[in-house]
Amino acid sequence: MKDKLIIFDTTLRDGEQSPGASMTREEKVRIAKALERLKVDVIEAGFPNASIGDFEAVQAVANAVKDSTVCGLARALDKDIDRAGEALKGADNCRIHTFIATSPIHMKMKLNMEPEQVIEYAVRAVKRSRQFTDNVEFSAEDAGRSKEDFLCRILEAVINAGATTLNIPDTVGYSVPQQFGATVANLMQRIPNSDKAIFSVHCHNDLGLAVANSLAAVINGARQVECTINGLGERAGNASLEEIVMAVRTRHDVFDCETEINTSEILSCSKLVSSITGFPVQPNKAIVGANAFAHEAGIHQDGVLKNPETYEIMKAEDVGWSANRIVLGKHSGRNAFKSRMTKLGHEFNSEQELNDAFFRFKQLVDKKHEIVDEDLQALISEVNSDAEERIKLIALKVCSETGEIPNSTVTLCIDNKEVTGSSIGSGAVDASLKAIESLVKSEATLELYSVNSISSGTDAQGDVTVRLEKSKRIVNGQGADTDIVIASAKAYINAVSKLQALELKKHPQKGNV
Ligand code: KIV
Ligand code: ZN
Repeated sequence: MKDKLIIFDTTLRDGEQSPGASMTREEKVRIAKALERLKVDVIEAGFPNASIGDFEAVQAVANAVKDSTVCGLARALDKDIDRAGEALKGADNCRIHTFIATSPIHMKMKLNMEPEQVIEYAVRAVKRSRQFTDNVEFSAEDAGRSKEDFLCRILEAVINAGATTLNIPDTVGYSVPQQFGATVANLMQRIPNSDKAIFSVHCHNDLGLAVANSLAAVINGARQVECTINGLGERAGNASLEEIVMAVRTRHDVFDCETEINTSEILSCSKLVSSITGFPVQPNKAIVGANAFAHEAGIHQDGVLKNPETYEIMKAEDVGWSANRIVLGKHSGRNAFKSRMTKLGHEFNSEQELNDAFFRFKQLVDKKHEIVDEDLQALISEVNSDAEERIKLIALKVCSETGEIPNSTVTLCIDNKEVTGSSIGSGAVDASLKAIESLVKSEATLELYSVNSISSGTDAQGDVTVRLEKSKRIVNGQGADTDIVIASAKAYINAVSKLQALELKKHPQKGNV
């Protein structure tokens, strides 16, 4: 029997720290449900004391997820730990993850504390966390640049205080594999009570070494890896979950441990995170990039046709490529639709909700004959966001002709009142977004506009992400349609609605953004 390698996903916490990747509570719950289907062991859902929004998101994930452990991050401060404990109350299985910096530069310049004081804070934080749960993780922030002797002292003390997982983060992505692996091995050997806790690593990708460092640590005894879908995360990101999982699985001859991840869910999870955050996946990204399993060179194609193992070390189907591609079509009925939605983790709260979604599905099937899972995911997003939006797209007419300036006329329903506006623009999308803006007057700045194709073919749905910024608030809006001008309009409306919702939370009397 091999050891289990615990997969701790921090897409919703460290991943969300990528500038522009902020997610709403509903989006976090959708990603958390996808991570649960992936059979991730621990989901770090957020940092509850960071804001009310973070608190509510962790609470919502804690209530929604049953099979994975839900974790909340807390600095080594009473108020953070109490808030995390409170947010996690509804979880079947929860963990508090508390941390304090241990490198000389962080202790002196950031914390302004003596090393002894840092140990005191760490011990106190772990003891306080244990009042809420016996599943407590302690992280020595910036361990990659900390002194090994000091790490031994603080980690021994927190194990005695009740920490069950010890995380060794390479916070600034400074380590290199051989040295990082040796640090983990030394710590496990030198700390007298190291057998009472699981050693974990959390590597950042500043030098492109996050996955390599994490795997070196696993070879040297770490039994938890903290990672994110698509390698999302602060600055250059974290170790990518899909790469860690597939490396351990493919090279089982090298690793004496295994994960329990349901790898066939990897691709859909990657697409969901990419569509919600608006961070596209580069085509040559390992495992989940569009070209990851494509063979271009004739000599490769010839080899693969004779025997796939000539050039393929993994099966594309094992990570979700081409499995279940065509799920539903024109003749699919309500039951087939409902059961596929259930498999995708979406439960309908009422017959009416099912009927509405099925109606939209039928509209989509009329435009696009083969409906894949990602189309259905986009449909769920649309149903969810429509329910919350005060602005609805009623009609859009765009005129785009060679040699003429494009113009667009848009009719919206804002708070049950229909309004129409027109604008010209440099293209059909530009004119349409300007026409919408003339009606909603958000005054937000467009930070990102991206279009991805949900599936292949010219009838594929375009999945548009629009990122808006206003008064330091950043939101992503999504829209999908077989017509990318309409998808763009939906995405813009979705983003403006999110800004409005945030604004209303702050000033409940205010109507406009
Ligand atoms: O990078 C880091 O050190 C972190 C800790 C909070 C684990 O994200
Ligand atoms: Zn981090």
